[in-house]
Amino acid sequence: MVRVVVLGQGYVASIFALGVERIKKGDLGYYGIPLADELPVKVEDIEIVGSYDVDETKVGVTVYDVVKRYWDNGVPESLRNITIRRGVHLNSLKSMPIKANGLEEKMKLSNCVDKLVDEWKSEKAEVIINVCTTERIKTFSSRDDIEKAIESDDREKLSAAQFYTYAASVYASENNGAVFVNAIPTPIANDPAFVSLAQDSKLVIFGDDGATGATPLTADILAHLGQRNRYVRSIAQFNIGGNMDFLALTDSGRNKSKEVTKSSIVRDILGYETPHYIKPTGFLEPLGDKKFVAMHIEYINFNGAIDEIVVNARINDSPSLAGLLVDLVRLGKIALKRGEWGTVYEVNAFYMKSPGPANSHNMPRILAYEALRKWAGLPAVSKGGTV
Ligand SMILES: NC(=O)c1ccc[n+]([C@@H]2O[C@H](COP(=O)([O-])OP(=O)(O)OC[C@H]3O[C@@H](n4cnc5c(N)ncnc54)[C@H](O)[C@@H]3O)[C@@H](O)[C@H]2O)c1
Repeated sequence: MVRVVVLGQGYVASIFALGVERIKKGDLGYYGIPLADELPVKVEDIEIVGSYDVDETKVGVTVYDVVKRYWDNGVPESLRNITIRRGVHLNSLKSMPIKANGLEEKMKLSNCVDKLVDEWKSEKAEVIINVCTTERIKTFSSRDDIEKAIESDDREKLSAAQFYTYAASVYASENNGAVFVNAIPTPIANDPAFVSLAQDSKLVIFGDDGATGATPLTADILAHLGQRNRYVRSIAQFNIGGNMDFLALTDSGRNKSKEVTKSSIVRDILGYETPHYIKPTGFLEPLGDKKFVAMHIEYINFNGAIDEIVVNARINDSPSLAGLLVDLVRLGKIALKRGEWGTVYEVNAFYMKSPGPANSHNMPRILAYEALRKWAGLPAVSKGGTV
């Protein structure tokens, strides 16, 4: 069994909970889960034991009630067993049309840490997944700075993701290990201060920012062009969607954090900079969760020929990440058993837009897939052929 706590009961977390329970009931197969039934930890072993949010309409109600807001086609009754608890807010939802309240309104941050750690102990949490709203980027220069920010109750300095990672490290050190999956752009696996804290606290961190749709596809197309020595002259890639995440990204500070994680693929894979525009560009409500993705890549071929690749797609946003989370929690359990404290590049390189640790490179996902399989102890046979 792998016991999971979710931070941010939004669209992604809801589709994750729904899909896992439907698989357990036998209603659904493994499509969209890269490692499907290959791992020793089975999808059916996943047990969601806790959920946190700060939206006043979600705190205190069950996961069943929230999932129903996103899916009206029969929600498994088992999700009535999890009641959403209050998390810390730290301005995550500032300027969003949502009434939010965090634990910190009634207590100091250090007490919030104690409260969450106690709750995670009672839930016997093993893997904590962060799928809260995209935040503005902040980084810490040292572990001391993180600890000082908590002790001095400095609410401006800490983002919610950073606070939760710190709390997870305290929990891990008292619990003999835990895993924190950071599926959002805030640098956690890419912040050496947090990785060092994790190493000493028996915490495994996976991150940062789930690589779900156009970004890994762009990475593979760039690798394809790179291997054929075609020179890429420009890349345009944008997404427009109608879910709350896209609404949050209309805030330029939050969008910047996505831009950074998405753009990191260009230099890493091509080995040179080229003019590019890669970011979520807009909110259009009728598109809902099924975002519109457009990509244009222009490159120089033999004899100076100029070629262009144009991709248009409609991609369901939340299921794309939720399917990856199913693997990440199971890989987390494996890392936990092995005691691989800190962060695991082989996992991050396949699943994350900005794979930690800091300064490690993006690699083409077709190669990252093989490295991941090796790490997980699976045979090196990729789907679609032997490597
Ligand atoms: N394909 C994808 O959907 C995808 C891919 C990569 C990364 N992500 C990241 O996943 C995250 C979630 O996406 P989503 O579509 O589910 O968004 P969402 O807005 O539907 O859900 C976010 C949830 O987090 C809650 N929340 C906000 N601040 C919180 C806090 N401090 N503590 C606890 N809960 C908090 C919100 O109330 C909301 O319920 C985003 O940060 C996004 O960048 C999504």
